[in-house]
Amino acid sequence: MKSRFQRTLLQFAVTCLAASAGSFAHAQDKVKVGLMLPFTGTYAALGTAIENGFRLYVDEQGGKLAGREIEFFKVDDESDPAKAPENANRLVKRDAVDVLVGTVHSGVAMGMAKVAKDSDTLLIVPNAGADAITGPLCAPNIFRSSFSNWQPAYAMGVVAADRQKHKTAVTVTWKYAAGDESVRGFKEGFESKGGKVLRELNVPFPNVEFQALLTEIASLKPDAVYVFFAGGGAVKFVRDYAAAGLKNTIPLYGPGFLTDGTLEAQGEAANGLLTTLHYADGLDNAKDKAFRAAYSAKHTIQPDVYAVQGYDAAQLLAAGLQAANGDIKNRDAVVKGMASAQIMSPRGEFSMSKAHNPVQDFYLREVKNGQNQLVNVAIENLEDPARGCRM
Ligand code: BEZ
Repeated sequence: MKSRFQRTLLQFAVTCLAASAGSFAHAQDKVKVGLMLPFTGTYAALGTAIENGFRLYVDEQGGKLAGREIEFFKVDDESDPAKAPENANRLVKRDAVDVLVGTVHSGVAMGMAKVAKDSDTLLIVPNAGADAITGPLCAPNIFRSSFSNWQPAYAMGVVAADRQKHKTAVTVTWKYAAGDESVRGFKEGFESKGGKVLRELNVPFPNVEFQALLTEIASLKPDAVYVFFAGGGAVKFVRDYAAAGLKNTIPLYGPGFLTDGTLEAQGEAANGLLTTLHYADGLDNAKDKAFRAAYSAKHTIQPDVYAVQGYDAAQLLAAGLQAANGDIKNRDAVVKGMASAQIMSPRGEFSMSKAHNPVQDFYLREVKNGQNQLVNVAIENLEDPARGCRM
């Protein structure tokens, strides 16, 4: 028969063993990352670049973030908003991922944000600019490593009026959240400086039949045209605009997605185009030089803005994990670490706004010799207004 002292000692030893077994298990657990990105369709190249960027950062850390191995789960979202809830739920429920990373298309990202909110899953958006994600849908568990649609568009509106001295503009976009918000942001910047948007034209996503729009632009004769297209659609629009003979008569502008990752396919037609974005060729920073060298050593093409955003999504997750000593389940510590992170990005250093969107410089770039060459900083430390965010 054991004494009370012996029983207490035994209980203590059992508790210690259980605790150390628990922390051993915790140290062994992989952090499960669910990549939900487009791997087919007009945004396929953008999804691949984001994945490449994310994996590059993880590889640079020896396959671990804050000492935790990373396990990837992947879903092709096809840039189809209708399939977003099912695709996101597959990662959350079937694969039990710790964090969702996605996506490119704003409509799909809104569906992901809803699933992330309902299931309280950590979400990092590595591209989609939907203003609502860091606006009315903002939440402690939702972060973005990219931009809001308002940001580059507003910067371009200011540049078109202030620097380029244009008085009138026509806008053209795919008809979905990203295009609508991009046009709204441009209009706000342009009209705040005395410009006037004459007409807002659009085509359904991902339609690339632009002839009717080009005819209408020619007859409206604005001082400038502002467009939101990306990926395959941007290639086609820039080529069609030049082929229609408009490039030399009505200057074409856009957020940098118009010419990022697309220049090889656009060729001569893109030469001289001015765009605004949070990344550019020719940035004078050591981080960018190292990033470009590492990326091009692994892949046959140079990195673009999408690769940078993927890389920074991984950096953001690493900041959260470090703050939580590698414990992804310690949500408060992870969120605090991510919200207060200073990210040393290839684009330049940036921090998070209260709504969890990057506060960052927007560059004016000009296409020269097949590159989006830096012209100047159009707006420094531009913060999205986060309208409707209560957090
Ligand atoms: C978007 O849907 O938010 C988006 C897609 C491609 C490039 C930029 C934004």
